[in-house]
Amino acid sequence: MKNKSEIKPFFYDITLRDGNQALKKPWNTGQKEVIFKELVKLGVQAIEVGFSGSSDMDFEACQHLASVSPDNTVIAGLARAMEKDIVKVADALKPAAKPRVHIFIAMSPFNMKYVLKKDPADVRKTAVDAIKCAKDLIGEKGEVQFSVEHFGDCSQNLDFVIESLQECVKAGATIINLPNTVERYRPLAFARMVETVKNALPRDIMVSVHNHNDLGMATATTVESFFAGAEQLECSLNGLGERAGNTNLYEVAVALHNCGVEVPLNLSQIYETAILTAEMANISIYEKAPLIGEDVLAHRSGIHQDGALKTQKMKKGAYRPIHPSLIGRDDAEKYGFTSQSGKTALYEIIKAKGYPITVEETLRLVPIAKEQAEKFGELPVEAIEDIYLKEIFEVDGPFKFTSFKKLDNGEKDKFNLKFSRKDREYDLTEEGEGPIEACIKALNSAGFRQKLVHYEQSAFGEETKGARADAMTVIQFETEDGKVITCRGKDPSTQKANVKAIFNGLNLIHTE
Ligand code: KIV
Ligand code: ZN
Repeated sequence: MKNKSEIKPFFYDITLRDGNQALKKPWNTGQKEVIFKELVKLGVQAIEVGFSGSSDMDFEACQHLASVSPDNTVIAGLARAMEKDIVKVADALKPAAKPRVHIFIAMSPFNMKYVLKKDPADVRKTAVDAIKCAKDLIGEKGEVQFSVEHFGDCSQNLDFVIESLQECVKAGATIINLPNTVERYRPLAFARMVETVKNALPRDIMVSVHNHNDLGMATATTVESFFAGAEQLECSLNGLGERAGNTNLYEVAVALHNCGVEVPLNLSQIYETAILTAEMANISIYEKAPLIGEDVLAHRSGIHQDGALKTQKMKKGAYRPIHPSLIGRDDAEKYGFTSQSGKTALYEIIKAKGYPITVEETLRLVPIAKEQAEKFGELPVEAIEDIYLKEIFEVDGPFKFTSFKKLDNGEKDKFNLKFSRKDREYDLTEEGEGPIEACIKALNSAGFRQKLVHYEQSAFGEETKGARADAMTVIQFETEDGKVITCRGKDPSTQKANVKAIFNGLNLIHTE
């Protein structure tokens, strides 16, 4: 007897049956084969290929898929508990190495009374007879699975269900599936019922669950049922299935993986499969769909952005359940800037665009970006770029630079600087070792004292055909109260880049 922690889940995929029967345009053989191949790549242990009794098209599809199926995969077909359906499944699945007939009948008091309109004893007999018939038809290499349709509604007659299942096992069923055909109650209450059934059946019988998602808890129900003893988990790609769908295979697989369970699937295949399935089903993926939704790697609040960035490269993230690469997603986490976001996101977005920026400069941009985001919502990267270029390189303020010229080539360079401050015009000429010194001296002589503590110049932007990169000057001034202000200027002329940086600094220091 295996210890619980050693039990591997057995993934039984129902996309091609439950998923397909709920499509507005069910798939033909070729379309089913596309999904089938994807399931094989994903490595599921069993594939329910269809309901061969439902139409000739589905019979052919089941037959074809059985003929191309790998030897190590169980190929199952659904049948009502009636001979004509069972015959169709057995016929269609003949080419498969591991065929399985899946028979179902409802055993909930409500369904037996109002839908089947049969006595419980009749229902039990129908089930047992059907299993015996399937056992005969499917032969040595095959097996029989029996499902108690509406098991989730059987809490009142669980004893009857268990006794019936014991009969079903005696008749030859080796897999007992317990569907939550319509999700109405609690995941844990369902899981407890699963545990009760599991304990009442012989140990070698595989217990399975098949949970619908009417209340959005199918993943929880399936995961908890696994820990309650269900080994086979019936799931579908993208959660396709009747009404709100079936249990989403990816969510269950990842949840179990995160719980330390050995999941026998190629998890890195998940994302590709999800995109292809959405296309094939013509049902787009909701942007907030767990794991696979377009928006689920986006962080917008300042606190989340900070935590996400600090753990970005780690397997476990502060604000994500897995590293996206686990499921084959190669898009990185995204940091959108909204009125709820903070400096971290702004800094990262600007850096990611390849622009230089300091934290102090970012802090200056935050209120401006927030004001815009309050009006327009999440700012596109281009809008952030515009804010950056404007607020860093064209700082608005009382100083307006007009011109700066070198006057002669004496021992010391002479420069003429023209600018205005509010309504007053200045026209100053100064000498200096270079343009920076002359410009600062000119400003000092007009009473605008600046203490230069850092200077550097580098290229800004990329050289393109026919256009040189701008020169960028970075200057730091220390203000009278000891604060260090970083300011930048850029221009094709190195000299003008210097002066622009100085005037940007003046406008930052003297705001009026
Ligand atoms: O939801 C359900 O009960 C089913 C059964 C046929 C297994 O799909
Ligand atoms: Zn179902």
